[in-house]
Amino acid sequence: MNIVWNKTSEQFHLYNDRLSYIIGVAPSGELANLYFGKRIHDRADFSYVLFRMGMPNVVVDADTESYSMELNCQEYPSFGTTDFGAQAFEVEMANGSRISNFVYKSHRISQGKKEIKGLPATYADKTEAMTLEVTLADTLAGMELILYYTIFEGYPVVARHARFKNVGNSKVKLTRALSACLDFPDQNYEWMQFSGAWARERIPEIKKLSTGVTYIDSRRGASSANQNPFVILKRPGTDDFMGEAIGFSFVYSGNFIALADGSTHGRLRFVMGINPDRFCWPLEKDECFETPEVVIAMTDRGLNDLSQTYHKLYNNHLVRGKWKNTPRPILNNNWEATYMDFTEESILKIASKAKDAGIELFVLDDGWFGERNDDFAGLGDWVENPKKLPQGMAGLSRKINALGLKFGFWIEPEMVNPNSNLYRRHPDWVLSVPGRKSSLGRHQLVLDFSREEVVDYIYGMLHKVIKGSKIDYIKWDMNRALTEVFSVDTPAERQGMVAHKYVLGVYSLYSRLIKAFPNILFESCSSGGNRFDAGMLYYAPQAWCSDNSDAIDRIRIQYGTSFGYPIVSIGSHVSAVPNQQTGRVTPLDIRANVAYFGTFGYELDLNEISDEEFELVKKQVEFMKENRALVQFGDFYRLRSPFENDQAAWMVVSEDKKKAIVGFYCLRSNVNALPGFLKLAGLDPDKEYRMEGKTYYGDELMNMGITLSEFYDRGFTISKDYDSFVTIIEEV
Ligand code: GLA
Repeated sequence: MNIVWNKTSEQFHLYNDRLSYIIGVAPSGELANLYFGKRIHDRADFSYVLFRMGMPNVVVDADTESYSMELNCQEYPSFGTTDFGAQAFEVEMANGSRISNFVYKSHRISQGKKEIKGLPATYADKTEAMTLEVTLADTLAGMELILYYTIFEGYPVVARHARFKNVGNSKVKLTRALSACLDFPDQNYEWMQFSGAWARERIPEIKKLSTGVTYIDSRRGASSANQNPFVILKRPGTDDFMGEAIGFSFVYSGNFIALADGSTHGRLRFVMGINPDRFCWPLEKDECFETPEVVIAMTDRGLNDLSQTYHKLYNNHLVRGKWKNTPRPILNNNWEATYMDFTEESILKIASKAKDAGIELFVLDDGWFGERNDDFAGLGDWVENPKKLPQGMAGLSRKINALGLKFGFWIEPEMVNPNSNLYRRHPDWVLSVPGRKSSLGRHQLVLDFSREEVVDYIYGMLHKVIKGSKIDYIKWDMNRALTEVFSVDTPAERQGMVAHKYVLGVYSLYSRLIKAFPNILFESCSSGGNRFDAGMLYYAPQAWCSDNSDAIDRIRIQYGTSFGYPIVSIGSHVSAVPNQQTGRVTPLDIRANVAYFGTFGYELDLNEISDEEFELVKKQVEFMKENRALVQFGDFYRLRSPFENDQAAWMVVSEDKKKAIVGFYCLRSNVNALPGFLKLAGLDPDKEYRMEGKTYYGDELMNMGITLSEFYDRGFTISKDYDSFVTIIEEV
């Protein structure tokens, strides 16, 4: 890894073993992108790639009369001079002008990576990364702009963000401040997004790019289940096993855009950042605005390789604290077992059975506080309901601990029910527009987390409950979109800051709780997977992936999620049948075979299943205990897509390639069809492996594949709906 500055040509070359990122000071003084892609040799001057010929109807820089931003790849383009594509930022000056001209001023190259204050971001020490900071100045605007680039050792990754500072004497407004732009010389790419809604999150969708704009966004306050802040641009033909692709992952949990703009001259631009819609950030003298980070990763080896890059990078350089690279406890959550209708006694009964099954952690979900007996009341009143918990959380946690289980509970700190003491006392603490009605979501309003006093108050209440008990885990939920985004505490010209300040408030509450209770494992949740993003992973190393716990739907949801997020971050549980979201009845083994590929746990009352099933549950728990380190942290390969087949398969391989675990699922029976073969990946071709009592070479398993009919001995066939197997492959 290195960052080279060539003073004569005024060019930077960031490179490691796998990629090169080359940036130059353009003839206009702005920054141009000279190359992004597979590692190439360094040279003193790459300016030959700049296009400096006249073209009809193209405007050029007034000083050079030959350079046009529009015809060259930009680093962080503005609109209004010689570029007409999607802009990375916009500054409105005091006189109303929105034209800017940020030119190279200075730079700094350093080892490691600095944190971004108040925001989640990847981190690295001095040996693990290098960072380039390029300072650009617009003297007329009195503004400085720093573009940050971090290159990591051993990862085909560059992390980018930007920082604006008002160094002049007049007020300016930032009306758009995206995190990154990457321009490509051609448009032969497919765009892959991960879309959905409640209970069907992160379903991959692919479209071919051409001229014009393709974009996704969130304006819901959270990153959303509708569009995930992760996009892949891939060459047509690139699949999980081969081909080029570039990923863009936004380390942020609020409103965002991801946009590709194909110019009619043949260039392609990709930009990503905070959604500029309704965003406006005034900057007084000496004030700064720092954007969140975009993590750009590339591959020339297919999408499994791209995903593995994100998995490893996020496990090693985003997730922090005690739970970094630590296998996760197997838990039992009472939500689908009881909903809010429980007593301490009924909870202890479920927990005690969980203990018998070998489960390690019990989680008390919604309903333990205030008047929370249904969706209509109690949010905001983070005090135990004595009818349900006579000795409070402290009493219950003691009893659960006495059973030999760790204990955790559910919170939804950003919300308030109109029917709550908190709302009655502080009706102005919600996001709402005076004089207008406030929309409800699940009968609740959103607290104004852009205000410090609101965050302080919630912190105080939660701190008290947590401190009084022995708490190992917290599930942090967020169950509605933000609407009527207005803060009564904020002056008119600062209302455009509220949505982002809300997210900063959420991050600050997380930071304070993590600081106070560093050993707690946080699991984020937002009506399932409505806020499953890289920003959250910085605070909560795992996320409840979806409220849809049906095994068949979960294969799709977890498969889609695996493109951008580590397997260990995917909250996945076995739940009861008929499934409460889909009504589908699936065997207990497929429910576990799917849930293994994530955090693993149970979302049901184990007292309600048969003795025979209970014996199976014990075996499942044992299996996961033995194999979770490999499943959660091994190299994950998608093998067969549930979006293109009636079957799905995936596998994990240990780093030393000595052990692998394969999961195979039959979503829909294929009557009278040959079972066929399943080609594996990631093994050592020369190693001999044992699978189901027989031995095979790695190359046999990867090139010929597993003979699926071999599993018919175990009762598995592909002509049975919901049949599945998980098998271990070990070096002989
Ligand atoms: C959300 C979560 C569920 C559960 C409920 C509790 O829907 O996604 O897992 O915690 O809230 O109200």
